[in-house]
This record gives sequence, structure tokens and C-alpha cells, in this order.
Amino acid sequence: MLTSRVLGWIGMGVFGACLAAPVLAEREIGAEDFGCLLEMTPVRGFYVSNLHGDLAATLAVAEAETGVWPPGSLVQLVPGEAMVKRSDGYNPATRDWEFFELDTTSGGTSIRARGFADVNNRFGGNCFACHVKANPDRDLICEQGHGCDPIPLTEAVTRALQKTDPRCSDAPALTPEEAAALSALQATLGAP
Ligand code: HEC
Repeated sequence: MLTSRVLGWIGMGVFGACLAAPVLAEREIGAEDFGCLLEMTPVRGFYVSNLHGDLAATLAVAEAETGVWPPGSLVQLVPGEAMVKRSDGYNPATRDWEFFELDTTSGGTSIRARGFADVNNRFGGNCFACHVKANPDRDLICEQGHGCDPIPLTEAVTRALQKTDPRCSDAPALTPEEAAALSALQATLGAP
């Protein structure tokens, strides 16, 4: 009796250890995985790609506007912020999304901050705290009207930030409205 209970505990211990085992073969993700936003695939107002090469799987969920995003999915609205879907079970708390705050120049990308529930944007807003408010079927993807608190960027500013990504060699022209919105944003942020 005692023996079988002890054996049971040992069994549970082994089972538990298996569950806690690190996910193998997780690909490293670094600054070189990010690049010109405009070379990613546009979906409604944002851009996607798949770092594992499975763009079709990423696009299928993006276009369905519901469902779980496949591993390797890279999603960006503006050049300086990104979400990457890591492999299944990598970080259950954030549904395996890793958040990135990026610095971009014509020379490329550097990672200012990265992580899971603890990454803030440069204005002090916590990425996960906002994105977790998206309706459950959205897998933390906000867009507009799906439960997240709105961000203080107008559509013209977002477009202007996308079109002026310094990593892109062929920058499209800004509309007068986008140019005005960008100057207003720069004035607010105290940029020269
Ligand atoms: C104040 C809440 C808030 C914070 C903080 C925030 N976001 Fe978002 N994010 C949003 C909303 C709302 C949208 C959709 C905006 C739109 O489509 O106009 C969005 C859009 C995005 C998108 C495009 C896909 C989507 O969900 O619509 C990505 C990627 C993204 N944010 C990443 C980040 C990262 C990375 C951080 C932290 C560095 C961050 N966000 C911080 C609310 C937030």
C-alpha cells in the first residue's frame, strides 16, 4: 500500500518533470530578424511575416480575424514595436507572444527591450497589460474595437510612421495629412 503510494508520487514527479521540461529546438530571435516594415505583408492597417517561413499560416489567421496565431508570426503596427509568436507552450501566460520595443535607424534595428509580461513601451505602457484585454478569440491582437484600450495615435500618424521606417530604402511619399500628423507628433515628443 505504502509502496504503491510512494511509487505513485515518484510517477507524478517524473510526469511533472516532463511537463516542466524546456521546449526544445526554439529558434533564437535577434535584431537581424527585424527589417523594413513595408517589406512585410500588409493586413488591414498592420504588417505581418513569419520568421519560420510559414507566411501562409500567419496570413490565414490574420485574414480570418480570429484564432490562434502560428509560431514564428511577426506582427507590427509601427516600426518600433513588435510581437513575435514563440513555440507552443514557451510562455503560456502571454499565450507565447514575446513583445519587443525596437530602435530603428537606416543602419538597422536594435532591441531596446524584449520579454513577456514585463515589457513596456517607451511611454511606460505595458504591452501585455493592454494586449491581454483583446477579446479571447483574438489571441492578444488588438486592432480597433476588440476590447483593448485605444492607443493615442491617429491613423494618419500610424501611416506616417510606417512610411518613414528608416530601414526602408524606397520610402513612399507622405500625404499632406500624414506629414502634418507626423510634425505634430514630433513637436509633442520634443523632437528637433
Ligand atoms: C495603451 C494600450 C497599449 C499598449 C501599452 C501597447 N499596445 Fe500595442 N496596440 C494597442 C492597440 C489598441 C492596437 C491597435 C491600434 C490600431 O489598430 O489602431 C495595438 C497594435 C499593436 C500591434 C499590431 C497588432 C494589433 O494588436 O493590432 C502590435 C504588434 C503591437 N501593438 C505591439 C505592442 C508592443 C510590442 C507594445 C509594447 C512595447 C505595445 N503594443 C503596447 C494597444 C496597446
